Amino acid sequence: MFIKKCGEYYKQLEDRGIALKNIERWDDYEIVRMFGKGLNPTSLETARKNIEFFTESLVCNEDTLRVVEYGPGSGWSTIMLMNYLKKGFPEKKVELYTVDMSPHSVVATQNSLDYHQIPWQTVLENSSVEDIEKKDGVITIVLEDFMKFTQKQPNDYFHGYFSSHGTAYLSEEEYFNLLKFLKEKGKRNAVFVADSLDPLYTVELNTIHLLLCSFFPSLPEKMKEYSYSKSLRSNSKYFSGQEVKKITKVNNAESRLFYNWNNYLLSHFKYKYLIRMMESIKITTDVIEEYREDVYPSYLVNTLVKREELNGWKPFDNLPKCPLYITNCGFFLDK
Ligand SMILES: C[S@@+](CC[C@H](N)C(=O)[O-])C[C@H]1O[C@@H](n2cnc3c(N)ncnc32)[C@H](O)[C@@H]1O
Repeated sequence: MFIKKCGEYYKQLEDRGIALKNIERWDDYEIVRMFGKGLNPTSLETARKNIEFFTESLVCNEDTLRVVEYGPGSGWSTIMLMNYLKKGFPEKKVELYTVDMSPHSVVATQNSLDYHQIPWQTVLENSSVEDIEKKDGVITIVLEDFMKFTQKQPNDYFHGYFSSHGTAYLSEEEYFNLLKFLKEKGKRNAVFVADSLDPLYTVELNTIHLLLCSFFPSLPEKMKEYSYSKSLRSNSKYFSGQEVKKITKVNNAESRLFYNWNNYLLSHFKYKYLIRMMESIKITTDVIEEYREDVYPSYLVNTLVKREELNGWKPFDNLPKCPLYITNCGFFLDK
């Protein structure tokens, strides 16, 4: 049903006369994979913690809070972000812009927001947010490249920028340029928080272990946090030849959510749902393995901001802890 509705929204985008470009990676096939996150408490919980931290770090002295999300994917992070912003700033108007160059991502996000009854509007290759008609609580989805969108925005305007596995797909040079623009476009104390995969870890979960933990969620409590099998060698341009650790068993707060949820499904005879959970975790691990080499990991951004042009971006030292294969970064703008 989700995919069918996406098809309808895609047709509507085409009817608006936009020549929808074919893009290399983030197409309709990817939507299924990104949508899988919604069934997977491990990924959701990691993004949630980063969103919570982001929201708590925002400073807004005006009537309207202005935030940009980079790369909504299928919209899970957007939903959480909007809910946190509204909860964190009940007295303020909230303007949330979420930018993605993939028309497939845009329609999936529209669909996910519908399901959660969050109003949205979609803008195609807009010039500046100042020209967009804004209503409180309506999310503006922008079909646009991160860089092109950012360059067109007014100076000293935004209170914060968030990205879960979005900006991580920029090259180092692009990331550098983006942060330079964000410095101009952000208000004093503006916040940037992003997370990404860590190219030096991959996950290939042991199915028997997964099933056993789903039947007996207390089982992994006595085990160590991570177990590994034979390592790989990295082909990432940032870590060429370095060891990539292959995780086979996980016992952390996020994985316990997954085991407990599976156990609930088992004890309530919801076997079909359980199969979908297992498929979802498989999708997640496949995606980790296929994408990790292309990722610019968040911890390298800490080195990037040491360059003179990016001074003013000061790192937070109390970021939430992520599972080993995910990494995050966070900065505030001292200007
Ligand atoms: C892995 S998905 C994001 C997932 C989502 N934030 C979540 O947490 O579920 C990455 C998204 O970033 C978008 N993206 C990547 N590079 C981009 C760029 N340079 N400009 C615009 N969108 C980009 C892709 O189209 C894709 O939808």
